[in-house]
Amino acid sequence: MKTSGPVVTIVVAAGSGVRLGSDQPKAALPLAGRPLVAWSVETAWAAGSAAVVVVAPPDRVDEFRRYVGPSVTVVAGGQQRQDSVRAGLAAVPEAASVVLVHDAARPLASVALWRRVIAAVQTGAEAVVPVVAVVDSLRRVGAGSELSVSVDRSELRRVQTPQGFAAVPFRAAHGAAAGLDLTDDATVMERAGYPVAVVEGEELAFKVTYPLDWALAETVVEHGLAEVTGNVNTEMTMTRETVALGRVPVAATTTADAVGGEIQTGIGFDTHRLVPGRAMAVAGLVWPDELVGPDGHSDGDPVAHAICDALFTAAGIGDLGTHFGTADPQWRGASGVTLVAETARRVRAAGYQVVHVAVQLIGQRPKLGGRRAEAQEVLSQALGGPVALAATTTDGLGFTGRGEGIAAMATATVRRVS
Ligand code: CTP
Ligand code: MG
Repeated sequence: MKTSGPVVTIVVAAGSGVRLGSDQPKAALPLAGRPLVAWSVETAWAAGSAAVVVVAPPDRVDEFRRYVGPSVTVVAGGQQRQDSVRAGLAAVPEAASVVLVHDAARPLASVALWRRVIAAVQTGAEAVVPVVAVVDSLRRVGAGSELSVSVDRSELRRVQTPQGFAAVPFRAAHGAAAGLDLTDDATVMERAGYPVAVVEGEELAFKVTYPLDWALAETVVEHGLAEVTGNVNTEMTMTRETVALGRVPVAATTTADAVGGEIQTGIGFDTHRLVPGRAMAVAGLVWPDELVGPDGHSDGDPVAHAICDALFTAAGIGDLGTHFGTADPQWRGASGVTLVAETARRVRAAGYQVVHVAVQLIGQRPKLGGRRAEAQEVLSQALGGPVALAATTTDGLGFTGRGEGIAAMATATVRRVS
């Protein structure tokens, strides 16, 4: 049956990633600074999903909510992948007409692939899987036997996700398959008697299973070979520069109205005088070897303050002074990290999801050097979203060059969700 109704995506991310060998769940691990699960969620939006459901490890539901933002429904997964899909399906809105199921473990699947799957369901297929050719020669070996027979690979395909289904039969088939150990969703449909159509898959949709796969995913991103989706409904190509800054949605635009439009960007700049007797609290860290530190009402962290203004202006809800004015004793001495966390909370409360922050420290010291990753981690934790941090000197020129002060400049990208 042809359909043009709502497409709802389930991203299954409740596995523990045993084969990857990390002590954290696979979907929570940062790929280029962004939790693995967030990559698939962005692609789901970009491909035109009307709603997205993420299935998270049962003890990580709140953590995963922070990774994917308030517009995504996050539910607890189950023991087996099929249990997790069933939990996700229970949260799919009734009105869904097409249901996609995607592994968070396939972060780099392109928007084009998603659209091929969606289009096949919309034009009448009840179950659709993307497939790719087998490249190795194949051989069937009997258990315990040293004999083997070659297998003709020309008829065989490897199955990927996203897999797409007509919602009504998919719900029914899943109900009927409860308790059976079936490895993918198309098999569930096949058991229920539905034919499974195929569309062309792609190598980029490979599954991150072993450490070697993780290294491949990082390399693909680093070399700009993955398609970036950001949070806008266009397909974009990731350049080296955007990779360096994290996943900046390059086609994102602001609207004339500060609180209108889906994607909005903001800007912030801050500067503080450097004085003896103050701790060098900059970029969310304390730099113990420095002899001077930023003066100010709070800890004077210009990186944090620039981020706050970028967030406030992105959401169009004022600035640092409006929210944490010097008249308010509550914020006296507040750390930059505290202010970033509170700013992010207020921006979310105003109906925005924080997509990304980029910030540059301007000053001769401290030297970011080996602590960039640490600073990014602290700031990202406070923000509940990705922060990319750069630093520059001014070649000895001006007040930062002379060491009289320190400055920072930031941009923030937010997405209106309510
Ligand atoms: N998955 C899930 N619930 C489970 C098991 C797996 O949601 N109980 C999800 C995983 O998070 C992953 C996808 O199904 O996105 C494919 O599974 P796999 O690649 O096997 O991931 P893990 O199960 O996490 O890895 P491993 O098998 O190595 O533990
Ligand atoms: Mg598994």
